[in-house]
Amino acid sequence: MTKKIAVLPGDGIGPEIVEQAVRVLRALDLNLELTEAAVGGAAFDQFEHPLPPLTLELAQASDAVLFGAVGDWKYDELPREFRPEQAILGLRKSLGLFANLRPAILYPELANASTLKPEVVAGLDIMIIRELTGDIYFGTPRGVRSAPDGRFAGEREGYDTMRYAESEVRRIARIGFETAMKRSRKLCSVDKANVLETSQFWKDIVIEVARDFPEVELSHMYVDNAAMQLVKAPRQFDVIVTGNLFGDILSDEAAMLTGSIGMLPSASLNEKGQGLYEPSHGSAPDIAGQNVANPLATILSAAMLLRYSLGCASEAERVEAAVKAVLAQGLRTPDIHEPGTTRVGTAEMGDAVLNALQRS
Ligand code: NAI
Ligand code: MG
Repeated sequence: MTKKIAVLPGDGIGPEIVEQAVRVLRALDLNLELTEAAVGGAAFDQFEHPLPPLTLELAQASDAVLFGAVGDWKYDELPREFRPEQAILGLRKSLGLFANLRPAILYPELANASTLKPEVVAGLDIMIIRELTGDIYFGTPRGVRSAPDGRFAGEREGYDTMRYAESEVRRIARIGFETAMKRSRKLCSVDKANVLETSQFWKDIVIEVARDFPEVELSHMYVDNAAMQLVKAPRQFDVIVTGNLFGDILSDEAAMLTGSIGMLPSASLNEKGQGLYEPSHGSAPDIAGQNVANPLATILSAAMLLRYSLGCASEAERVEAAVKAVLAQGLRTPDIHEPGTTRVGTAEMGDAVLNALQRS
Protein backbone atom coordinates (compact mmCIF):
# COMPACT_ATOMS: atom_id res chain seq x y z
CA MET A 1 0.00 0.00 0.00
CA THR A 2 1.24 3.48 -0.82
CA LYS A 3 2.05 5.61 2.19
CA LYS A 4 1.52 9.34 1.91
CA ILE A 5 4.01 11.81 3.30
CA ALA A 6 3.44 15.55 3.36
CA VAL A 7 6.75 17.36 2.96
CA LEU A 8 6.75 20.85 4.50
CA PRO A 9 10.22 22.44 4.23
CA GLY A 10 9.36 25.89 5.66
CA ASP A 11 11.87 28.67 6.20
CA GLY A 12 15.56 29.32 6.71
CA ILE A 13 17.56 26.11 6.49
CA GLY A 14 14.30 24.11 6.29
CA PRO A 15 14.37 23.52 2.51
CA GLU A 16 18.06 22.47 2.47
CA ILE A 17 17.82 19.95 5.29
CA VAL A 18 14.45 18.54 4.22
CA GLU A 19 15.83 18.00 0.72
CA GLN A 20 18.46 15.64 2.13
CA ALA A 21 15.91 13.72 4.23
CA VAL A 22 13.67 13.35 1.17
CA ARG A 23 16.58 11.89 -0.82
CA VAL A 24 17.09 9.35 1.96
CA LEU A 25 13.40 8.36 2.03
CA ARG A 26 13.34 8.02 -1.76
CA ALA A 27 16.41 5.79 -1.70
CA LEU A 28 14.58 3.19 0.39
CA ASP A 29 12.70 0.48 -1.39
CA LEU A 30 9.28 1.60 -0.15
CA ASN A 31 6.08 2.65 -1.79
CA LEU A 32 5.96 6.29 -0.72
CA GLU A 33 4.09 9.23 -2.17
CA LEU A 34 5.83 12.44 -1.13
CA THR A 35 4.01 15.72 -1.73
CA GLU A 36 5.51 19.09 -0.93
CA ALA A 37 3.60 22.13 0.32
CA ALA A 38 4.36 25.59 1.66
CA VAL A 39 4.40 26.34 5.39
CA GLY A 40 5.52 29.13 7.71
CA GLY A 41 6.91 32.38 6.38
CA ALA A 42 7.33 30.84 2.95
CA ALA A 43 3.59 30.14 2.91
CA PHE A 44 2.79 33.63 4.19
CA ASP A 45 4.77 35.14 1.32
CA GLN A 46 2.83 33.07 -1.22
CA PHE A 47 -0.64 32.75 0.31
CA GLU A 48 -0.72 35.36 3.10
CA HIS A 49 -1.11 32.63 5.72
CA PRO A 50 1.52 30.48 7.52
CA LEU A 51 -0.71 27.39 7.29
CA PRO A 52 -2.79 27.66 4.10
CA PRO A 53 -5.87 25.41 3.76
CA LEU A 54 -4.21 23.27 1.04
CA THR A 55 -1.22 22.57 3.27
CA LEU A 56 -3.44 21.66 6.20
CA GLU A 57 -5.59 19.36 4.03
CA LEU A 58 -2.50 17.66 2.66
CA ALA A 59 -1.17 17.08 6.18
CA GLN A 60 -4.51 15.68 7.35
CA ALA A 61 -4.70 13.29 4.39
CA SER A 62 -1.14 12.00 4.91
CA ASP A 63 0.24 9.21 7.07
CA ALA A 64 3.00 11.51 8.25
CA VAL A 65 4.38 15.01 7.90
CA LEU A 66 8.07 15.66 7.37
CA PHE A 67 8.60 19.20 8.63
CA GLY A 68 11.70 21.39 8.31
CA ALA A 69 11.46 24.50 10.46
CA VAL A 70 9.64 27.81 10.36
CA GLY A 71 10.46 31.37 11.35
CA ASP A 72 12.54 34.32 10.36
CA TRP A 73 13.21 37.67 11.96
CA LYS A 74 11.53 39.43 9.03
CA TYR A 75 8.11 38.20 10.19
CA ASP A 76 8.52 39.48 13.76
CA GLU A 77 6.32 42.53 13.14
CA LEU A 78 3.33 40.53 11.85
CA PRO A 79 0.24 40.08 14.04
CA ARG A 80 0.57 36.83 16.01
CA GLU A 81 -1.89 34.81 13.90
CA PHE A 82 0.22 35.36 10.77
CA ARG A 83 3.59 34.52 12.31
CA PRO A 84 5.33 31.43 10.92
CA GLU A 85 5.35 29.65 14.32
CA GLN A 86 1.54 29.58 14.23
CA ALA A 87 1.82 26.91 11.55
CA ILE A 88 3.22 24.38 14.03
CA LEU A 89 0.58 25.20 16.63
CA GLY A 90 -2.11 24.90 13.95
CA LEU A 91 -0.80 21.53 12.77
CA ARG A 92 -0.51 20.20 16.34
CA LYS A 93 -4.06 21.25 17.08
CA SER A 94 -5.77 20.10 13.92
CA LEU A 95 -3.95 16.76 13.80
CA GLY A 96 -4.43 16.23 17.55
CA LEU A 97 -0.69 15.67 18.08
CA PHE A 98 -0.47 15.04 21.80
CA ALA A 99 2.76 13.08 22.28
CA ASN A 100 6.10 14.71 21.64
CA LEU A 101 8.97 12.22 21.55
CA ARG A 102 12.44 13.69 21.80
CA PRO A 103 15.39 11.35 22.01
CA ALA A 104 18.68 12.69 23.36
CA ILE A 105 21.48 10.49 22.11
CA LEU A 106 25.17 11.16 22.52
CA TYR A 107 26.98 9.59 19.58
CA PRO A 108 30.40 8.31 20.67
CA GLU A 109 32.11 10.26 17.86
CA LEU A 110 30.60 13.52 19.17
CA ALA A 111 31.36 12.97 22.85
CA ASN A 112 33.43 16.17 23.00
CA ALA A 113 30.41 18.28 22.08
CA SER A 114 28.80 17.63 25.46
CA THR A 115 29.51 20.13 28.20
CA LEU A 116 29.42 17.26 30.69
CA LYS A 117 32.35 15.03 31.56
CA PRO A 118 32.70 12.00 29.27
CA GLU A 119 32.34 9.57 32.17
CA VAL A 120 28.95 11.15 33.00
CA VAL A 121 27.47 11.11 29.49
CA ALA A 122 29.20 8.35 27.51
CA GLY A 123 26.54 6.17 25.87
CA LEU A 124 23.68 8.52 26.80
CA ASP A 125 20.44 7.47 25.09
CA ILE A 126 17.26 8.76 26.67
CA MET A 127 13.77 9.45 25.39
CA ILE A 128 11.73 12.33 26.73
CA ILE A 129 8.01 12.15 26.13
CA ARG A 130 6.24 15.46 26.57
CA GLU A 131 2.46 15.85 26.61
CA LEU A 132 1.65 18.49 24.04
CA THR A 133 -1.98 19.57 24.16
CA GLY A 134 -2.87 20.22 27.81
CA ASP A 135 -1.42 21.76 30.97
CA ILE A 136 -0.96 25.41 31.85
CA TYR A 137 -0.20 26.27 28.21
CA PHE A 138 -3.82 25.79 27.19
CA GLY A 139 -5.79 25.81 30.47
CA THR A 140 -8.52 28.40 30.92
CA PRO A 141 -9.32 30.82 32.43
CA ARG A 142 -6.21 32.86 31.78
CA GLY A 143 -5.40 36.50 31.35
CA VAL A 144 -4.88 39.64 33.35
CA ARG A 145 -7.45 40.69 35.94
CA SER A 146 -7.91 42.64 39.09
CA ALA A 147 -6.63 40.40 41.90
CA PRO A 148 -9.76 39.09 43.62
CA ASP A 149 -8.56 38.85 47.21
CA GLY A 150 -5.69 38.41 49.60
CA ARG A 151 -2.51 40.39 49.92
CA PHE A 152 -2.70 41.88 46.42
CA ALA A 153 -6.41 42.75 46.33
CA GLY A 154 -7.12 45.58 43.92
CA GLU A 155 -3.82 45.17 42.05
CA ARG A 156 -3.73 43.71 38.54
CA GLU A 157 -2.49 40.12 38.25
CA GLY A 158 -1.59 37.78 35.43
CA TYR A 159 -2.90 34.23 35.74
CA ASP A 160 -3.05 30.89 33.93
CA THR A 161 -4.74 27.62 34.78
CA MET A 162 -2.87 24.34 35.08
CA ARG A 163 -5.20 21.47 34.28
CA TYR A 164 -5.13 17.94 32.91
CA ALA A 165 -8.14 15.78 32.05
CA GLU A 166 -7.95 12.14 33.07
CA SER A 167 -8.08 10.90 29.46
CA GLU A 168 -5.22 13.23 28.53
CA VAL A 169 -3.00 11.82 31.26
CA ARG A 170 -4.01 8.25 30.44
CA ARG A 171 -3.12 8.42 26.76
CA ILE A 172 0.27 10.04 27.27
CA ALA A 173 1.05 7.61 30.11
CA ARG A 174 0.27 4.71 27.75
CA ILE A 175 2.71 6.11 25.18
CA GLY A 176 5.28 6.30 27.97
CA PHE A 177 4.76 2.68 29.01
CA GLU A 178 4.61 1.40 25.41
CA THR A 179 7.85 3.20 24.61
CA ALA A 180 9.47 1.81 27.75
CA MET A 181 8.40 -1.71 26.74
CA LYS A 182 10.35 -1.30 23.47
CA ARG A 183 13.44 -0.08 25.33
CA SER A 184 14.85 -0.98 28.76
CA ARG A 185 11.43 -1.16 30.49
CA LYS A 186 12.17 1.73 32.81
CA LEU A 187 9.81 4.70 32.94
CA CYS A 188 10.19 7.82 35.06
CA SER A 189 7.14 10.06 35.42
CA VAL A 190 8.08 13.62 36.27
CA ASP A 191 5.74 15.90 38.20
CA LYS A 192 5.57 18.35 41.08
CA ALA A 193 3.10 16.39 43.18
CA ASN A 194 4.42 17.79 46.45
CA VAL A 195 3.01 21.22 45.52
CA LEU A 196 0.53 20.95 42.65
CA GLU A 197 -2.91 19.31 42.66
CA THR A 198 -2.66 18.75 38.91
CA SER A 199 0.59 16.86 39.46
CA GLN A 200 -0.82 14.64 42.23
CA PHE A 201 -3.69 13.78 39.88
CA TRP A 202 -1.20 13.07 37.08
CA LYS A 203 0.75 10.76 39.36
CA ASP A 204 -2.36 8.87 40.53
CA ILE A 205 -3.46 8.23 36.94
CA VAL A 206 0.03 7.13 35.86
CA ILE A 207 0.04 4.62 38.72
CA GLU A 208 -3.34 3.31 37.52
CA VAL A 209 -2.12 2.91 33.94
CA ALA A 210 0.96 1.10 35.27
CA ARG A 211 -1.25 -1.87 36.20
CA ASP A 212 -1.52 -2.68 32.48
CA PHE A 213 2.28 -2.74 32.18
CA PRO A 214 3.55 -4.94 35.02
CA GLU A 215 6.89 -5.47 33.25
CA VAL A 216 7.76 -1.78 33.33
CA GLU A 217 9.62 -0.45 36.34
CA LEU A 218 7.87 2.86 37.11
CA SER A 219 9.46 5.62 39.15
CA HIS A 220 8.35 9.17 39.98
CA MET A 221 10.51 12.25 40.33
CA TYR A 222 9.80 15.89 41.14
CA VAL A 223 10.66 18.17 38.26
CA ASP A 224 13.24 20.23 40.14
CA ASN A 225 15.11 17.08 41.07
CA ALA A 226 14.77 15.75 37.51
CA ALA A 227 16.38 18.95 36.17
CA MET A 228 19.25 18.39 38.58
CA GLN A 229 19.61 14.66 37.93
CA LEU A 230 19.71 15.24 34.17
CA VAL A 231 23.00 17.10 34.50
CA LYS A 232 24.31 15.10 37.44
CA ALA A 233 23.70 11.52 36.30
CA PRO A 234 21.64 11.51 33.09
CA ARG A 235 22.19 7.84 32.32
CA GLN A 236 19.94 6.83 35.23
CA PHE A 237 17.03 7.66 32.88
CA ASP A 238 15.72 5.70 29.96
CA VAL A 239 12.19 6.96 29.19
CA ILE A 240 10.80 10.07 30.90
CA VAL A 241 7.12 10.99 30.59
CA THR A 242 5.91 14.38 31.72
CA GLY A 243 3.44 17.20 31.13
CA ASN A 244 3.63 20.03 28.64
CA LEU A 245 5.37 22.67 30.77
CA PHE A 246 7.90 20.41 32.49
CA GLY A 247 8.52 18.54 29.24
CA ASP A 248 9.23 21.73 27.33
CA ILE A 249 11.99 22.64 29.75
CA LEU A 250 13.43 19.16 30.42
CA SER A 251 13.56 18.22 26.73
CA ASP A 252 15.58 21.32 25.91
CA GLU A 253 17.86 20.60 28.84
CA ALA A 254 18.34 16.97 27.75
CA ALA A 255 19.03 18.09 24.19
CA MET A 256 21.88 20.24 25.41
CA LEU A 257 23.52 17.32 27.21
CA THR A 258 24.50 16.05 23.78
CA GLY A 259 25.73 19.48 22.71
CA SER A 260 24.71 18.97 19.09
CA ILE A 261 21.41 20.60 18.27
CA GLY A 262 21.92 19.69 14.61
CA MET A 263 21.70 15.99 15.51
CA LEU A 264 18.41 15.77 17.43
CA PRO A 265 15.18 14.60 15.84
CA SER A 266 11.64 14.72 17.21
CA ALA A 267 8.25 13.18 16.63
CA SER A 268 4.77 14.40 17.55
CA LEU A 269 2.08 11.72 17.38
CA ASN A 270 -1.68 11.53 17.49
CA GLU A 271 -4.04 8.70 18.46
CA LYS A 272 -4.25 7.42 14.89
CA GLY A 273 -0.48 7.01 14.57
CA GLN A 274 -0.15 9.99 12.27
CA GLY A 275 2.83 12.08 13.18
CA LEU A 276 4.77 15.23 12.49
CA TYR A 277 8.52 14.73 12.34
CA GLU A 278 10.96 17.60 12.60
CA PRO A 279 14.44 18.42 13.84
CA SER A 280 14.52 19.82 17.38
CA HIS A 281 16.27 22.95 16.18
CA GLY A 282 14.73 25.97 14.47
CA SER A 283 15.12 27.56 11.06
CA ALA A 284 18.62 28.96 11.75
CA PRO A 285 18.24 32.01 9.49
CA ASP A 286 21.84 32.97 10.32
CA ILE A 287 23.18 30.10 8.20
CA ALA A 288 20.36 29.60 5.67
CA GLY A 289 21.26 29.09 2.02
CA GLN A 290 24.96 28.51 2.69
CA ASN A 291 25.05 24.70 2.44
CA VAL A 292 26.46 24.47 5.99
CA ALA A 293 23.42 23.34 7.98
CA ASN A 294 23.55 19.88 9.52
CA PRO A 295 20.85 17.73 7.87
CA LEU A 296 21.26 14.78 10.25
CA ALA A 297 18.55 15.83 12.74
CA THR A 298 16.08 15.91 9.85
CA ILE A 299 17.33 12.62 8.40
CA LEU A 300 16.97 11.06 11.87
CA SER A 301 13.46 12.56 12.06
CA ALA A 302 12.70 10.73 8.81
CA ALA A 303 13.91 7.55 10.54
CA MET A 304 11.43 8.20 13.37
CA LEU A 305 8.74 8.75 10.73
CA LEU A 306 9.51 5.32 9.28
CA ARG A 307 9.37 3.71 12.71
CA TYR A 308 6.35 5.40 14.30
CA SER A 309 3.98 6.27 11.45
CA LEU A 310 4.84 3.78 8.68
CA GLY A 311 5.68 0.72 10.78
CA CYS A 312 8.99 0.32 8.92
CA ALA A 313 11.31 -0.37 11.87
CA SER A 314 14.01 -2.12 9.87
CA GLU A 315 14.27 0.77 7.37
CA ALA A 316 14.43 3.18 10.33
CA GLU A 317 17.33 1.20 11.71
CA ARG A 318 19.07 1.23 8.33
CA VAL A 319 18.84 5.03 8.20
CA GLU A 320 20.12 5.38 11.77
CA ALA A 321 22.96 2.99 11.02
CA ALA A 322 23.86 5.04 7.92
CA VAL A 323 24.06 8.19 10.04
CA LYS A 324 26.35 6.43 12.50
CA ALA A 325 28.47 5.20 9.60
CA VAL A 326 29.09 8.71 8.22
CA LEU A 327 30.04 9.93 11.68
CA ALA A 328 32.43 6.99 12.00
CA GLN A 329 33.93 8.00 8.63
CA GLY A 330 34.77 11.34 10.24
CA LEU A 331 32.44 13.49 8.13
CA ARG A 332 31.19 16.61 9.93
CA THR A 333 29.14 19.68 9.07
CA PRO A 334 30.64 22.85 10.61
CA ASP A 335 28.43 22.75 13.73
CA ILE A 336 29.99 19.43 14.82
CA HIS A 337 33.39 19.81 13.19
CA GLU A 338 36.52 19.12 15.28
CA PRO A 339 40.21 18.97 14.40
CA GLY A 340 41.01 15.68 12.71
CA THR A 341 37.57 15.32 11.10
CA THR A 342 36.49 16.16 7.55
CA ARG A 343 34.33 19.25 7.09
CA VAL A 344 31.47 18.75 4.64
CA GLY A 345 28.43 20.76 3.55
CA THR A 346 24.72 19.98 3.84
CA ALA A 347 24.42 18.29 0.44
CA GLU A 348 27.68 16.34 0.83
CA MET A 349 26.46 15.02 4.18
CA GLY A 350 23.28 13.90 2.40
CA ASP A 351 25.41 12.20 -0.30
CA ALA A 352 27.40 10.38 2.37
CA VAL A 353 24.29 9.09 4.13
CA LEU A 354 22.91 7.87 0.78
CA ASN A 355 26.18 6.08 0.05
CA ALA A 356 26.19 4.44 3.47
CA LEU A 357 22.58 3.38 2.93
CA GLN A 358 23.38 1.81 -0.41
CA ARG A 359 26.21 -0.17 1.18
CA SER A 360 23.91 -1.51 3.93
P1 NAI B 1 17.72 27.81 15.95
O1 NAI B 1 17.61 26.42 16.43
O2 NAI B 1 17.14 28.07 14.61
O3 NAI B 1 19.25 28.25 15.94
C1 NAI B 1 20.05 28.29 17.10
C2 NAI B 1 21.54 28.19 16.71
O4 NAI B 1 21.80 26.84 16.30
C3 NAI B 1 21.91 29.08 15.54
O5 NAI B 1 23.22 29.56 15.71
C4 NAI B 1 21.87 28.14 14.35
O6 NAI B 1 22.74 28.52 13.30
C5 NAI B 1 22.28 26.82 14.96
N1 NAI B 1 21.63 25.67 14.28
C6 NAI B 1 20.33 25.30 14.35
N2 NAI B 1 20.10 24.24 13.59
C7 NAI B 1 21.28 23.92 12.99
C8 NAI B 1 21.68 22.91 12.05
N3 NAI B 1 20.82 22.00 11.57
N4 NAI B 1 22.97 22.90 11.65
C9 NAI B 1 23.84 23.78 12.14
N5 NAI B 1 23.54 24.75 13.01
C10 NAI B 1 22.25 24.83 13.43
O7 NAI B 1 17.02 28.73 17.05
P2 NAI B 1 16.79 30.32 17.07
O8 NAI B 1 17.97 31.01 16.47
O9 NAI B 1 16.38 30.63 18.43
O10 NAI B 1 15.52 30.56 16.15
C11 NAI B 1 15.57 30.86 14.76
C12 NAI B 1 14.17 30.82 14.18
O11 NAI B 1 13.68 29.47 14.27
C13 NAI B 1 13.18 31.68 14.95
O12 NAI B 1 12.34 32.31 14.00
C14 NAI B 1 12.41 30.69 15.78
O13 NAI B 1 11.12 31.11 16.06
C15 NAI B 1 12.39 29.50 14.87
N6 NAI B 1 12.18 28.20 15.55
C16 NAI B 1 11.42 27.30 14.89
C17 NAI B 1 11.21 26.05 15.41
C18 NAI B 1 10.40 25.09 14.61
O14 NAI B 1 10.17 25.30 13.43
N7 NAI B 1 9.94 24.00 15.20
C19 NAI B 1 11.77 25.65 16.71
C20 NAI B 1 12.64 26.65 17.31
C21 NAI B 1 12.81 27.89 16.73
MG1 MG C 1 11.06 24.57 23.96
